[in-house]
Amino acid sequence: METALTRLVGVRHPIVQTGMGWVAGPRLVSATANAGALGILASATMDTDRLREAIREVKSRTGAPFGVNLRADAADAGDRVRIMIEEGVRVASFALAPSAELIAELKEAGVVVIPSIGARRHAEKVAAWGADAVIVQGGEGGGHTGEVATTVLLPQVVDAVDIPVVAAGGFFDGRGLVAALAYGAAGVAMGTRFLLTSDSTVPDAVKAAYLAATVKDVTVTRAVDGLPHRMLRTELVDALEHSGRARTLLQAIHRAAGFRRLSGLTWPRMIRDGLAMKHGKELTWSQVLLAANTPMLLKASMVDGRTDLGVMASGQVAGVIDDLPSCAELVARVMKEAEEVLWTLVRADS
Ligand SMILES: Cc1cc2nc3c(=O)[nH]c(=O)nc-3n(C[C@H](O)[C@H](O)[C@H](O)COP(=O)(O)O)c2cc1C
Repeated sequence: METALTRLVGVRHPIVQTGMGWVAGPRLVSATANAGALGILASATMDTDRLREAIREVKSRTGAPFGVNLRADAADAGDRVRIMIEEGVRVASFALAPSAELIAELKEAGVVVIPSIGARRHAEKVAAWGADAVIVQGGEGGGHTGEVATTVLLPQVVDAVDIPVVAAGGFFDGRGLVAALAYGAAGVAMGTRFLLTSDSTVPDAVKAAYLAATVKDVTVTRAVDGLPHRMLRTELVDALEHSGRARTLLQAIHRAAGFRRLSGLTWPRMIRDGLAMKHGKELTWSQVLLAANTPMLLKASMVDGRTDLGVMASGQVAGVIDDLPSCAELVARVMKEAEEVLWTLVRADS
């Protein structure tokens, strides 16, 4: 199936596996790329040496194009961009809107720029700055998320910008892909669905918790870092919501120190990142500190397998997913379903 997305990035299928911290590593990304979809490596949880290593690992496993997701507000975003350019990465994906200068630097080097956005005005802004496409995530999507559902946000963004729009938030099958195309999208991006594959390195106990979840077990909370964050509701989430401010802060400082060691960031650099995060936003310092705490809470589950100590970011779709296909099986299945749905529509019409 050829769309503006497949033409732009050179993949066979209009499907994207999104950059998920601790989840979208070299194994998942290369399996996705070999399945003919666009895999995106999550880099915010890696230091720059590990990023270069991870990119090389993906390249050793696949010759297909892939992307890297990074935080545009990270103090070392420029270094990360240079590594991506040197290593010939095809796509740069951003969790927050990148600056016009960063977009220009990437485009000049031939890298396709696809920021993720959660509101129409952000899509308009990055399109005006030269982004090649946008991933638009509706409120049902996993991780940090907005309030507007994909079914409302997607047509709003499609109507507002002239660049290809990739739909995210709530997609898991071929019907969803056809629906997204009907709204005018150039493809779908899926997070939770790719986390729940046999190629994902997430520990089995954690995958089991997602598979057992119903749609009602997926919640949005601000208790982790002050921003709306969609995840599985667990006892830890309940405890965070009910623990006092002082205790939460103390725990956050402890985890921020752990993240500093793991990410290779220095305290001054973390403070600069914090200042960048605060800029123009109504965030208190305690919220900024809590944000540094999020990667550690994600790591506890996604890497260490601690469903009791970690947060499990998740889209509402976890409630309708009940299997763990390989990426190749998943992509083939979504494409087959989409083609069948399209044929049924064509036949009904003739
Ligand atoms: C476990 C998990 C971790 C995530 N981490 C990131 C991240 O580091 N950067 C980012 O831009 N988005 C992140 N997201 C959001 C996803 O990239 C994607 O936009 C979202 O999962 C789409 O919704 P879906 O889960 O309904 O498919 C994360 C999502 C999940 C489920």
